[in-house]
Amino acid sequence: MNSPAPTGWDATEPIELDVPQQAPPQAEPIPGEPLQGKHNPRISTPKFLRLGTVYDELTRQRAAQLIAKYPQSRSALLPLLHLVQSVDGCVSADGIEFCAEQLGLTAAEVEAVATFYTMYKRTPCGEHLVSVCTNTLCAALGGDAIYTSLRAKLGVADQETAGTPGEPGSVTIESAECLAACDHAPVVTVNYEFYDRQTVESAAELVDELQAGRRPAPTRGAALSSFKQTELELAGIFTGEQLSAEVAVPTASEQTLRGNTYAGEHAQVAPAMPDSYQMPDKPEPKS
Ligand code: FES
Repeated sequence: MNSPAPTGWDATEPIELDVPQQAPPQAEPIPGEPLQGKHNPRISTPKFLRLGTVYDELTRQRAAQLIAKYPQSRSALLPLLHLVQSVDGCVSADGIEFCAEQLGLTAAEVEAVATFYTMYKRTPCGEHLVSVCTNTLCAALGGDAIYTSLRAKLGVADQETAGTPGEPGSVTIESAECLAACDHAPVVTVNYEFYDRQTVESAAELVDELQAGRRPAPTRGAALSSFKQTELELAGIFTGEQLSAEVAVPTASEQTLRGNTYAGEHAQVAPAMPDSYQMPDKPEPKS
């Protein structure tokens, strides 16, 4: 049996979707490599590169500062991997050994974690990491076309960099799974800052700006900084020089709040939480 409609809900009321019209992609094939809409970096990227990095005293002090936050040192592994990326632009073989040494882990234990999360990169990133959401909703609204056209524009494969990694104006591109901003699809992030409701044309203009050394303001949230600076902040180290964690523009958008606004306008309220809840008994342990 169907549940009764909530108060104020009119199922016959039409819902207007504002779906942007996009020009078809004008992607040129990259010489020697077929364009692919999807890519699995875990299969095709090298394991960990040996860069010969010697981590300086400041990095060691920062590692100690992060480790001191946790009752067990191994809990600091995720921040330490971000710290390594703030130096190398990726998780290098040197970074794996550094984390293992700092935390009393084996290199295999560190590698097992570093290969699990896609935010840990195995090749050095550019000044900017451009992530194009190609998950279902974004793909249907133009994300695949944006990704394909940007790859063709930059002339690189997924997870590769146009320009010298780390140098000003260098750009790494990747296709990404859902970036948790479906209400703004299709979405592109640069160093994890959001650029909402992109088109093939607007994404190309964004990349042009990045390559020219400029940093366009994200649609919402913090100001844009470099990939390495972002990684330092993701590690939990804020230098105060470029505190991009300061919110530059409001994070909650009209689209995100639309359901809440509609409910308020139509006097819809969620059922109250019960004052108490009887948890079910724990099952007997298996013998
Ligand atoms: S599908 Fe792209 S942000 Fe969710």
